[in-house]
Amino acid sequence: MASKKKRNTSSKSKINTKKELDNLIHSELVEVRNSPIHGRGVYAVKPIKSGTRVYEYVGERISHSEADRRFWKKHQEDGHTFLFVVNRKTVIDGTRKGNDARYINHRCEANCETVTEDNRIFIEAIRNIKAGEELGYDYQLTWSEDDTAEDLALYRCLCGSKKCRGTMLDAQSIEQHLAEDRAKRKRAKARAEAKQGQASAKSAKNKSAKKTTAKNKASKKKVSKKTVSKKKTGKRGRN
Ligand SMILES: C[S@@+](CC[C@H](N)C(=O)[O-])C[C@H]1O[C@@H](n2cnc3c(N)ncnc32)[C@H](O)[C@@H]1O
Ligand SMILES: [Zn+2]
Repeated sequence: MASKKKRNTSSKSKINTKKELDNLIHSELVEVRNSPIHGRGVYAVKPIKSGTRVYEYVGERISHSEADRRFWKKHQEDGHTFLFVVNRKTVIDGTRKGNDARYINHRCEANCETVTEDNRIFIEAIRNIKAGEELGYDYQLTWSEDDTAEDLALYRCLCGSKKCRGTMLDAQSIEQHLAEDRAKRKRAKARAEAKQGQASAKSAKNKSAKKTTAKNKASKKKVSKKTVSKKKTGKRGRN
């Protein structure tokens, strides 16, 4: 079975001071309690306004292969994961040096989302959250096409929402993401090559235009020389 990790869902920019960012390791807006969804969950203890950054998801930063190794060792049977993918190189393991952000459960009708900024993960409210409400975001867990139905069943969602999509897995498999990445890179390469081709054609055109201008200038010079000489002649003539 391929490893399952949390994925970051979006990326946008919001400027926070260092102090504000440091404060996001612990939050006075929430507390950890038992959850009907699964084990422990994170609950608002006061109203949280849409757009508020509640937490930074912290933990040990490790490679994908190390994350896979840890997942296989401990959670391949139950699918339980505290791993969060930051980028192609890095995964955060919330079980080591982590904070309470790791207890936020998946909710199909999410009231939070994760935001990646400078290779750090923040959890932000996407609507106003009432005191007492459980926080949740869409995990969009990675999965691979060689996962069996049994493997995939480990990730069924118990969020209880009417709009529950039945799984914590991402709508797309790793292979689909990779194929999309490859296609994107191919398109970008083709665009760059086309641009390069246009630039070369332009510079060749410019060169030939320069040659023509130079020729014209040269012939203009001849003309003006002629004109001058004519003038001179003329002047001389008039004199
Ligand atoms: C980061 S932990 C969240 C905290 C967890 N409730 C606990 O007490 O450890 C993530 C794990 O919680 C479980 N989980 C979270 N949301 C879930 C959901 N909507 N349905 C089923 N299990 C869920 C899954 O086992 C998942 O791998
Ligand atoms: Zn659900």
